[in-house]
Amino acid sequence: MGLRYGGDYNPEQWAEEVWADDIRLMKEAGVNFVTVGVFSWALLEPADGVFEFGWLDRVLDLLHSAGIRVDLATATASPPPWLTTAHPEMLPEDELGITRWPGSRQQYSPTSPAYREHAARLVRRMAERYGSHPALDMWHINNEYGCHTNLDYSDNAAVAFRVWLSNRYGSIEALNAAWGTIFWSQRYSSFEEILPPRIAPNFRNPTQLLDFHRFSSNALLECFLLEKAIVREYSPDIPVTTNFIGAFKPVDYWSWAPHLDVISDDNYADPLDPDSPMKAAFSRDLMRSLGGGKPWLLMEQATSHVQWRPTNGRKATGEMQALSLQAVARGADGINFFQWRQSTSGAEKFHSSMVPHSGTDTRIWRSVVELGSQLAALSSVQGAAVPARVALVLDWESWWAIEAGAMPQTLDYLATLETWYKALYELNVPVDFVHPSADLSAYEVVFAPQLYLLPDEIGSRLASYVDGGGTLVLTYFSGIADENDHAHLGGYLGALREVVGVRIEEFAPLPLDNTPHSEVHVSGDRFGDFTGTIWSEFVTAVTAETLAKFSGGDLDGLPAVTKNSFGHGAAWYVATQPEPAAVAAIVDTVLASVGVRPEFAGAGLEAVRRGDALFLINHRSSPAVTTISGTDLLTGRTHAGFTLQPHGVAVVDLAPQAQTTHPSPARDRKVESEVH
Ligand code: GLA
Repeated sequence: MGLRYGGDYNPEQWAEEVWADDIRLMKEAGVNFVTVGVFSWALLEPADGVFEFGWLDRVLDLLHSAGIRVDLATATASPPPWLTTAHPEMLPEDELGITRWPGSRQQYSPTSPAYREHAARLVRRMAERYGSHPALDMWHINNEYGCHTNLDYSDNAAVAFRVWLSNRYGSIEALNAAWGTIFWSQRYSSFEEILPPRIAPNFRNPTQLLDFHRFSSNALLECFLLEKAIVREYSPDIPVTTNFIGAFKPVDYWSWAPHLDVISDDNYADPLDPDSPMKAAFSRDLMRSLGGGKPWLLMEQATSHVQWRPTNGRKATGEMQALSLQAVARGADGINFFQWRQSTSGAEKFHSSMVPHSGTDTRIWRSVVELGSQLAALSSVQGAAVPARVALVLDWESWWAIEAGAMPQTLDYLATLETWYKALYELNVPVDFVHPSADLSAYEVVFAPQLYLLPDEIGSRLASYVDGGGTLVLTYFSGIADENDHAHLGGYLGALREVVGVRIEEFAPLPLDNTPHSEVHVSGDRFGDFTGTIWSEFVTAVTAETLAKFSGGDLDGLPAVTKNSFGHGAAWYVATQPEPAAVAAIVDTVLASVGVRPEFAGAGLEAVRRGDALFLINHRSSPAVTTISGTDLLTGRTHAGFTLQPHGVAVVDLAPQAQTTHPSPARDRKVESEVH
């Protein structure tokens, strides 16, 4: 069916006369895939055990007759008022014990037996009825798990947390050892005494917090698996997905991804954030990586503005298409929106949609139609891979631990990852994300910023990777603790100390107040002089070569950037947060050291190769000129050098047959853009 194109379709919000118009417009825009039923529990089951499927039957039949495939949602993301009234104990509570009441959505405790039982019953009835419907293309389980309700501290959670802990540790003695409860008189005599880490007089036990994150992510996964097992019974061959939300802290998507047949993502790039193309690319690469390189789906995005930021900027003309094609470039086999027709009531009536309040004689509708035809022209990229030789470690457990409080510094793990990702993004070097225990043999270089938790087993795997010829780049606050968040003694870095060839003696975090004291000076021939922020530390180079040194103050002359040869590979260590230009210089030097050079280096243009297609994307508001030649798959036209308008995109055909008939881009692959 080509690349999937469509969005969330909520026909229940409209009179049935409107539906025929919906279908007509969907055909006009090239829509071939819609998500139906996401928030329809109250309509599908208006009273306990009473099901009304007539309207959904008519919707699915109508879509089928128009040849539009359906991603059918299980509708369990917003339990109806009759259910929460009958079972008020199913409502979630925050760490202060405050209830999250009905009246919005996601008003359920993921571990509530009443919620799970009623959700399972609804899903079974839906699967029985629609499991072999000819329009069914995919099952869409729930919606954005954990988006609003992720850490639930209710009594449901307390009961389930105890069960989870007893399965993990086997005995209360093992839990006491892992949690270090000898500290502050926290020793437990039985699992019955354990509570979720509710608000307490002072810092809560860090291992309890870490386990609560692990447990909470898993509790949501259990909900997903419960529903998935039911739909599988009725439609064993229909793929199952649930929509992820980029790098979303509460849910460890590495543990979820193997259970999804198709990875899908919701991405709401902020048009007012100059870094939004980079941040969107980050999410796209993460989604591809979660699926092990398989194509994924952009399940939701906005045609223009959202309604949930304090100020909701609009997308510039062309920006929506540029971001959509960026997703295709980075492995998406479908582009979808929230939502098809803009609601007239409710909390999302000011969220843009495919059919806006103002109708189809609009900038937004024209952009929707244009994207439909662009996607139709790109069917040849469907299924193609996006190969990468560089990896970036994203470790949810380190993220949780680092940001749990009682740490040497207030760190923002995601922001740190983005600083390193950004340098790679700007060089147009493809990046995969990896779990710290992943098989790294495909990668020449692995960046692992702030890999705080380093269990011995993972440390040994990373050591073998370097020993075997890999290049590992670690930053400050890596290898600090084991899986229970107990500190590695003797200079930190655990099983990687010899590999990195340094000892960390003492941390020296910097004020975060933008005063002169918030910066540390670094000098080094390799990268020039630069400033560091956030962190500095007393490092001793044992076997490592010092490439840049702290200058001034107590740290004067101590290593700030080191490189250690180990086995057939090398480990780099960066002891501060370098300013962006220095991050870029370090990244470039590391890549050069292993011969990874950007194939399409360019000044400000995004260039991504997917299969035989080279996507050139100009995210800026001024035109750009390149020396790349070839045929544009979007237009069928051949260019000797592409000029890209603001937010313009070209998809250059690199297929061998195109190369014989047209000037070869392989001969001149520089994206030397000039901005006018
Ligand atoms: C999320 C939800 C949608 C909608 C959009 C609005 O992605 O899944 O139902 O609320 O946000 O941006």
